[in-house]
Amino acid sequence: MSENGNPNLPVDRALTEGRVPDRTSAGVPELHEVDCPAELRERIEQLMSRYPDRRSASIPALWAVQERYGWCTPEGIRQAAAVMRVTPGYLESVASFYDLLHTEAVGSHRIEVCTNISCWMRGGDELLDAFRAAAEGDEDFYVTGFECLGACDIAPMASIDQRYYGPLEAAEAGIAIAQLKADAEVLPAKDQARRPLAGDTPNPGGGAGA
Ligand code: FES
Repeated sequence: MSENGNPNLPVDRALTEGRVPDRTSAGVPELHEVDCPAELRERIEQLMSRYPDRRSASIPALWAVQERYGWCTPEGIRQAAAVMRVTPGYLESVASFYDLLHTEAVGSHRIEVCTNISCWMRGGDELLDAFRAAAEGDEDFYVTGFECLGACDIAPMASIDQRYYGPLEAAEAGIAIAQLKADAEVLPAKDQARRPLAGDTPNPGGGAGA
């Protein structure tokens, strides 16, 4: 059996070399002390099995917590910490460092508007203002400005519920918010997933080439 106690997981060198506290260390919750759903525990164990140092799974493990609870709740972090055999404080420090991990409750619809240089030059600030105005007063929406999202070719752009859209007009912010409220498809003509990739040859139907 591995040092992890799970025969399917590799020996954790970080543990054997004393670089992380072992499971007897103060502050590391035991699994029986938390009510971790089996599905979440199995997912985190599977993530840990990908890395020689289980702490390398911290970000995807926190993402799994966020997907389950909507944000990185204190109890969700304790559950992940018990599975990973690290302190909740360690995972909290990771979660608080990354903007895409939320340590406070946020709306279920998350909109990140890029305001970095390429998007800013093409109206990113106005686009952010338009999204904020359209979503104002509705706690179901979380709208924030963001650094470059790596899609400068469609500036100004936004990530809406983890999908990229652009180039966007400020007037389309209200349309997108209304479509989200109606549970309708969001700005299909601006959905990057529908755009051809660089080098694709348009086919007669107008879509991306094979
Ligand atoms: S500057 Fe907006 S995606 Fe790069």
